[in-house]
Amino acid sequence: MRLSTIKMYVAALMIMAGLVASGCQSLHSEPDNSLYLQLGERAGIANVVEDLLYLIVDDERINEQFKGMDVAQFHRNLTDQLCELSGGPCEYSGREMRELHAAMGITDTQFNALAENLILAMEENHVPTTAQNRLIKRLLPLYPDIRHL
Ligand code: HEM
Repeated sequence: MRLSTIKMYVAALMIMAGLVASGCQSLHSEPDNSLYLQLGERAGIANVVEDLLYLIVDDERINEQFKGMDVAQFHRNLTDQLCELSGGPCEYSGREMRELHAAMGITDTQFNALAENLILAMEENHVPTTAQNRLIKRLLPLYPDIRHL
């Protein structure tokens, strides 16, 4: 057999072995809940959301929008959403993001203000910066729905 043919076989075998190994990994590995743990599990997330609420009330860029809302419901639903998004054992049962924020006419400044307040609330709760960044990254795909783009 020619050397180039042997090399091709070896390369094909390595690719197949890699595919089998990654397939097995995805079949057997546990879901990644490391971010959820970094956030202090559901209790830690609930504390962050509580502090976020205080910051929202004090923030003139966004507090008008939140006037009259059901605070307990917002707290429960946002906590569940962040818990689920971070890989925790929660199931978000609140309203659908696009529909809920549709009539609010949320601006980029307001979206960023909320993200900024969430970061501040995480700071206050000593969430490591890496975990803050990981959570923000998971929220970014919601941007077009919330901004209604
Ligand atoms: C990453 C950004 C955001 C996320 C993940 C988010 C998520 C949520 C969630 C989970 C709820 C509760 C849903 C429910 O109770 O069914 C909610 C409600 C609400 N959101 Fe957002 N939101 C975001 C940005 C914003 C922004 C920027 C504003 C306005 C400045 C806003 C205004 C509101 C208001 C006013 C409510 C309460 C509505 C009501 O109860 O009638 N949200 N949001």
